[in-house]
Amino acid sequence: MCGIIAYIGKEPALPILLRGLRRLEYRGYDSAGVAILNNGGLNRVKTMGKIDILSEKLKDQELLGTMGIAHTRWATHGGVTEANAHPHSALNGKLMIVHNGIIENYRELKNQLLDVSFVSQTDTEVLVHLIGKYYSGDLRQAVETALAQVRGTYGLVVTHADHPDKLIAARMGSPLVIGVGENEHYIASDATPILAYTNQVVFLDDGEIAEVSRETIKTFNVRHEHIQKRVEKIDWDEAQAEKQGFAHFMLKEIYDQPTVFQDAIRGRYNIIDGTARLGGINLTDNQIRDINRVIFIGCGTTSYAAMAGKYAFERLAGIPAEVDVASEFRYRDPVIDNHTLVFAISQSGETADTLAAVREAKRRGAVVRGIVNAVGSTIARETDGGTYIHAGPELAVASTKAYTNMIAVLILYALQFGRLRRLSLATGLRVVDALREVAQKMKETLELSEEIKKVAQKYSDYHNMMFLGRGINFSVALEGSLKLKEISYIHSEAFPGGEMKHGPLALLCPEFPVFAIMTKNQLYEKMRSNVEEVRARGAKVILLATKGDDRALELADDVIYVPETMELLEPLINTIPLQLFAYHMAVILGKDVDRPRNLAKSVTVE
Ligand code: F6R
Repeated sequence: MCGIIAYIGKEPALPILLRGLRRLEYRGYDSAGVAILNNGGLNRVKTMGKIDILSEKLKDQELLGTMGIAHTRWATHGGVTEANAHPHSALNGKLMIVHNGIIENYRELKNQLLDVSFVSQTDTEVLVHLIGKYYSGDLRQAVETALAQVRGTYGLVVTHADHPDKLIAARMGSPLVIGVGENEHYIASDATPILAYTNQVVFLDDGEIAEVSRETIKTFNVRHEHIQKRVEKIDWDEAQAEKQGFAHFMLKEIYDQPTVFQDAIRGRYNIIDGTARLGGINLTDNQIRDINRVIFIGCGTTSYAAMAGKYAFERLAGIPAEVDVASEFRYRDPVIDNHTLVFAISQSGETADTLAAVREAKRRGAVVRGIVNAVGSTIARETDGGTYIHAGPELAVASTKAYTNMIAVLILYALQFGRLRRLSLATGLRVVDALREVAQKMKETLELSEEIKKVAQKYSDYHNMMFLGRGINFSVALEGSLKLKEISYIHSEAFPGGEMKHGPLALLCPEFPVFAIMTKNQLYEKMRSNVEEVRARGAKVILLATKGDDRALELADDVIYVPETMELLEPLINTIPLQLFAYHMAVILGKDVDRPRNLAKSVTVE
């Protein structure tokens, strides 16, 4: 996730900005840059790779200016290149910007700038030229006019060489915080780089613009009216600030889900045609109609997200779909031809088995596409197209937000393929409507955290646990079980409810609790019978049920109620309580939540 730090004050800005960039490294980045106002001009230095390289490049430059902006970039539009790194500039280098977020309509905006020769592939460069177009002496007004045309998200800071006394900051959907010092101000994407200097801050809200000088912060709302903002005191130390006040990265990432889910679907669905459009697939509509089989490959959590994708593809697109664990696929003899579409799914984009499977599938003539989080990663580069899931960096070893965003993208693909084949407009529209409600339902589900913590406390003495789900919720059961075992080290297993009689039932006894997903869908009654079987063996039961399902209480020792959604979208909601359950359990048991034993975040070896 990109990071911003900017400074205006009485000290040389460069050391403050470089230190700030280092504090932002935890967010993950692939390139970085800085611009300092020095002797009346903006001096800009950018690089691919680490802050150390940037610092080395700046070593021999006498940049003593007291105002500047800096950025760490995590690529979204355009690859990892120096040209794509921020700050971006316009007006012959007099105007510069650092920007976090995504400008959705940047292609349309580019059409207004036909006389500009762009040097990067970024949406941000379009924005800075748009601001330049409207600039006629009033910097804030130029930013306001340009932003009025923008659709998307931004947290940004703008500087102009002719305005050595101000920086303009604006926020929409991407956080910005202003640190208040004595005759100096700091602007950053989170409080981490500011805390070494001050704990007095002003948080900008969506739609607000701030004109920040050495002495004052003037803030304006969407209607350009002057507003008074409160200076708040934050008591976080730097480590807490990195996690935005959450105790662990995993918890922060669980809470990121409503926001990053919207990043995954934004601009990718169509409310008129009830469809989705993921251009990165690089296939014509007819080529898509020619696909007669889809294989998803991935590992661990990613393979469980794929399982939800399989249900969505079969249901919406009517295409036979399978999930293959990458380490198996690469050594099997998979039957593949050029009508087979292989989706390689990966958060890191570097998983060795998935990469080997990609190469094998390509060798056998399949159409191979990526569904990846890390932009510019090897799997993203080696597949002939695909889609980024926009979950932002995941720093906790246990994957959470990548799982939900992978499912979001898979559902969009299933919708796109379905509407090109057999899916009716009415059903397409229902899916789109339901997708648009998911972020709000995720937020409601996150509010259950304290309640789930109490349930985890109650079961923290058990050494075994079983997760049950049916249909698309089998993916959720597998994921809940993996989360629990990997961070709390409690032995756990997951089964489809209907499998219990075929063996696993033998395990059950009062010491082996069962966590069952029994939300209201077409398999509800079937799942109910499975839970009754479990209860009859004396096992304790935790149920995940749909709000308003009072009958669930008869069957369970504990019930967690979640908001109702369309069956295909249930994993997006139902997984959250299971993530929280595993998280709280690990904390209660005193485990190292973010770095569980024996595991690595990116498995780059076989
Ligand atoms: C579990 C987890 C792993 C990964 C797996 C694949 O919480 O994170 O199971 O999902 O190692 O990693 P990626 O998606 O990076 O290929």
